[in-house]
Amino acid sequence: MVGRWQVEGAWGVDQLRWVEDAAPPEPGPGEVRLRLTAMSLNFRDLLMVTGRYNPSQPLPLVPGSDGVGVVEALGPGVAGWSVGERATPLFCVGWPGGRLPADAPRHALGGPLPGLLQTWRCLPAAALLRPPAHLSDAEVATLPCAAVTAWRALFTEGGLRPGQQVLVIGTGGVSLFATQLAVMAGARPILVTRRPEKAAAAAALGAEVIVAPSGGWGREVRARSGGGVDLVVEVGGAGTLSESLAAARPGGTIAIIGVLDGMDAHLSLIAVLMRGLRLQGVFVGSGEDHAALHAALRAHPTLRPVIGGHHPLSALPEALRALERAEHLGKLVIEAG
Ligand SMILES: NC(=O)c1ccc[n+]([C@@H]2O[C@H](COP(=O)([O-])OP(=O)(O)OC[C@H]3O[C@@H](n4cnc5c(N)ncnc54)[C@H](OP(=O)(O)O)[C@@H]3O)[C@@H](O)[C@H]2O)c1
Repeated sequence: MVGRWQVEGAWGVDQLRWVEDAAPPEPGPGEVRLRLTAMSLNFRDLLMVTGRYNPSQPLPLVPGSDGVGVVEALGPGVAGWSVGERATPLFCVGWPGGRLPADAPRHALGGPLPGLLQTWRCLPAAALLRPPAHLSDAEVATLPCAAVTAWRALFTEGGLRPGQQVLVIGTGGVSLFATQLAVMAGARPILVTRRPEKAAAAAALGAEVIVAPSGGWGREVRARSGGGVDLVVEVGGAGTLSESLAAARPGGTIAIIGVLDGMDAHLSLIAVLMRGLRLQGVFVGSGEDHAALHAALRAHPTLRPVIGGHHPLSALPEALRALERAEHLGKLVIEAG
């Protein structure tokens, strides 16, 4: 089976079609052709496939933000890569480093650019990194979107320091990476989950866990942290923002990342100004963030991505439905087979 998954005609998991490719694509000047070996799913991919991320995005679209593969061919002018090496693409192929460029969202894989849920993908050599050698393909494939976002929220934007307290919401990809990286940095994560059955696994990663199936946890986090957390990794969006505001200490930062519970939030400006809160938007991260994450993982080889399930590429629709049920911990991996 060689080819690609694409959303055709209309949005929806049911609109995904497998299209066979007769031959691999030829890499253009400066490009490398990867044969993908493992990918992972993000909530973003589900939003994209169901048309909730950007309904005006043209179809067909190959989804998939994250992956890793083997270099199979080099286009004209490519130096520094050899056939047979392992490589992982930046999620945002047009953002090597520095400040967020205004057009960064236009250079994201899996929408608007064709994604990685396919056999082959030609990409600019400058948008590829060598992953840490000790990580498996499945582990490397979990990093480009969720882990880089957690890295940027905690360190590049959040300036996290040892001893500080971090609130994370839920047990998905971004949140468990934020938990693990906070522990690595000597900070104290407090994690809120809706599901009691996930509490023990989250605690084993080093988080203090609060089980709260239906909200109302912001004040409890503030009390347990002795006056509020320094940083909130806010992945819930509309449904959790007021809790996050309540959980932060005066002068604390809310890293605005996700929309798991709605995109259009009511915001109490009084709470923000009276308590001097900082709202910091985070759009994944740059190549520099991705490389810094790799360096940290090389230095801390016991920090391994939490993989909550493996699915074959042939079963992508079922894997996306599993992601939506949110019964797993961490990341769902797609194996190319
Ligand atoms: N800004 C960016 O650059 C960026 C980058 C990556 C992701 N994101 C966004 O961040 C969010 C998380 O992404 P992800 O890929 O980590 O998601 P994910 O892996 O699918 O995480 C899902 C987990 O979040 C919790 N959850 C699900 N629905 C929820 C709800 N309605 N309210 C509260 N918690 C809920 C659940 O944990 P429990 O069962 O434990 O409660 C669930 O297991 C998404 O909105 C995604 O689009 C943004």
